[in-house]
Amino acid sequence: MDALPRRGTTKLAIVGAGAVGSTLAYAALMRGTARTVALLDVNRSKVEAEVLDLQHGMMFIPPAEILGSDDIEVCRDADVVAITAGAKQQPGQTRIDLAEATVGLTRKILPGLLEVAPNAVYIMVTNPVDIVTYAAQKISGLPTERVFGSGTVLDSSRLRAAIALHCGVAVGNVHAYIAGEHGDSELPLWSSATIGGVPLLDWRGVGGLPLDAAARERIAKDVVDSAYRIIAGKGATNYAVGLAATRIIEAVLKDEHRVLTVSSKLDDYYGIGDVCLSVPSVIDRRGVAGVLEVPLSQEELAGLRASADSMRAVQRQFGL
Ligand SMILES: NC(=O)c1ccc[n+]([C@@H]2O[C@H](COP(=O)([O-])OP(=O)(O)OC[C@H]3O[C@@H](n4cnc5c(N)ncnc54)[C@H](O)[C@@H]3O)[C@@H](O)[C@H]2O)c1
Repeated sequence: MDALPRRGTTKLAIVGAGAVGSTLAYAALMRGTARTVALLDVNRSKVEAEVLDLQHGMMFIPPAEILGSDDIEVCRDADVVAITAGAKQQPGQTRIDLAEATVGLTRKILPGLLEVAPNAVYIMVTNPVDIVTYAAQKISGLPTERVFGSGTVLDSSRLRAAIALHCGVAVGNVHAYIAGEHGDSELPLWSSATIGGVPLLDWRGVGGLPLDAAARERIAKDVVDSAYRIIAGKGATNYAVGLAATRIIEAVLKDEHRVLTVSSKLDDYYGIGDVCLSVPSVIDRRGVAGVLEVPLSQEELAGLRASADSMRAVQRQFGL
């Protein structure tokens, strides 16, 4: 299907039409996130099949144009480019194990994307997302606010779901964030978390259980382990990450000024810099408009510093 002329509408380009990319396209189309959704994948038969399948649902979703190709031209003039292409974790692998392959892939695909979509906001989803985002910043030379990673938006959603279930409250009333690496060194920011205005550390329970230290530890561990469990069971995580990335893209395209824990290049954040990590950040049409100085306990600050140190060690390993 040829692209129709665009008249001030929005375009989302998704690179990689695998489990994550195609589910992201589905979620974005269902929610009417962008008028045009374009998928790019080196596997032509796969991308054509995904696009056909999505197009066959067009009468059930908000008006949209759905494109797909193995030709980078399909991404031309995108407002947002979401990159999901690349190696995925095999059962037992960590996200860091993917770094060599995915940093190489980022070096390969980014220059062509920058040519066809020079004004886009770039959102990295490919893992290890903090390292890939740092690499993308270096390779692209774009202003730091325009290149960021999906970070711990997904992990924060997993955390909120677990807290909501334990405490017997609606997930929308839980305000809690996972900060740091999207991976094994991530940490929950318990000291600033609240339910309906009640600090989580003072939560005594209404209908559900109190959130004591043992429960907090179990929930934090479950959040870190959840991707491993899903990958062991079905080979990929796709639904929640598709929704999380859609939420981030909407915050950009609709200029929402929404607070989300995306991964961006930190510059003297509690003394932490030269690394991409997730902290609560304001997302608008420019990308990352700013990061919030969330009050941190000594333990949380130490955890964030340790996460930064481990990411910098990986950056050095890949000459970034
Ligand atoms: N950040 C997050 O929260 C999060 C969550 C889940 C998965 N992921 C990551 O997303 C990535 C994709 O996972 P998946 O399960 O969709 O993998 P997948 O193997 O199902 O899909 C990857 C796709 O990328 C395509 N691809 C490879 N090289 C390409 C290139 N040069 N240009 C265009 N397309 C190319 C492949 O053909 C494939 O279709 C992985 O790195 C995974 O770890 C991130």
